[in-house]
Amino acid sequence: MLNPAEDSPLPARLVSVGAYRPRTCLDNDELARAHALDTSDAWIRQRTGIATRHIASPGESLEFMGARAAERALARAGFTDQGAQAADCILAASMSHLDSSQSLARGISKELGGRHATFDVSAACAGFCVGLELARCLIATRTFRRILVVGAERMSDIVDPHDRTTSVIFADGAGAGLVCAAPEPEIGPAAWGTEGAAGRLLHRSPLAPIAAAPEGPPAYLTMRGPELYRWVMGTVPRAAREALDKAGVHTDDLSAVVLHQANDRMTTALVAALGLPPHVVVSHDVVSSGNTSAASVPLAVDALLADHPDLSGKLALLTGFGAGLTFAAQVVRLP
Ligand code: COA
Repeated sequence: MLNPAEDSPLPARLVSVGAYRPRTCLDNDELARAHALDTSDAWIRQRTGIATRHIASPGESLEFMGARAAERALARAGFTDQGAQAADCILAASMSHLDSSQSLARGISKELGGRHATFDVSAACAGFCVGLELARCLIATRTFRRILVVGAERMSDIVDPHDRTTSVIFADGAGAGLVCAAPEPEIGPAAWGTEGAAGRLLHRSPLAPIAAAPEGPPAYLTMRGPELYRWVMGTVPRAAREALDKAGVHTDDLSAVVLHQANDRMTTALVAALGLPPHVVVSHDVVSSGNTSAASVPLAVDALLADHPDLSGKLALLTGFGAGLTFAAQVVRLP
């Protein structure tokens, strides 16, 4: 007979966030010049809203960026004395972590120092929101006391710099959130799903081309943008409404919305589809950060709180969506 689990689930909250933005920041003209791209600042701004993005240098590894973001989240939560050991679990999300033999979370733990339970989530641009849901459940079951959820990406490693359909969109960075137990639920249950049959709309096949043509070009990410746009518009509003229902929250109760920062034109269309009241502050971090996949939501939350400190303690809807095709959404009380 095993010991029974404690019966009352513990509620969880997002205590703090931290971010790491790579030192190199390129505007659209600089990016186009660097890779001789047949594009223009006007096209990129009009179709995506993106004006600048950060690109990691060789020294800014996923582990390095993820650890710096995690340290900032821990410091903001006041855990300066115990260092990284204040967290007992690290959960990392990334679609550009290419070493399947060792988790990115393990690398972040090594970079931080100390001992943690570690594992990765493979949910692409929905990775941070999926990670937050897993952290909520792991706190509920008393499996861990403090969990770092880290989204880190070097999309510049997996995007063909000469492919104008992807290289103007994707970018690099890392964001982290610290999740702990709380007296009241402050992270709502996630609406979360995958439409596997549509997975080819955003795809990278690392093994097949290497095996078929070892001397050929690396397998880069490919995206069927317009089809993906339609899938997002058909899926994300429904997921967002489900997340609101699960949390028992109405759009009037929200103070902020942080959608995955894929495309600012799409953000505007999604906000209209959700019928959000005008007082709700909407994140537009994609304008300065580009699409950083799993890092996009925590980077955007960090930027939102820097611009609007008054949002601290208020309710926000978070959504992630992308390759898979996977989506996840939840309501959180902002740290
Ligand atoms: N610069 C200039 N022209 C470009 C270009 C670029 N960077 N990229 C594509 N084009 C061209 C295309 O070749 C096409 O030319 P054509 O009309 O001669 O064939 C034209 O611009 C229109 O391309 P299209 O792909 O239809 O543009 P779009 O308005 O759909 O915008 C996206 C493209 C990618 C910005 C948009 O489809 C999108 O954001 N999709 C969703 C992406 C997403 O959500 N990703 C998931 C989350 S990770």
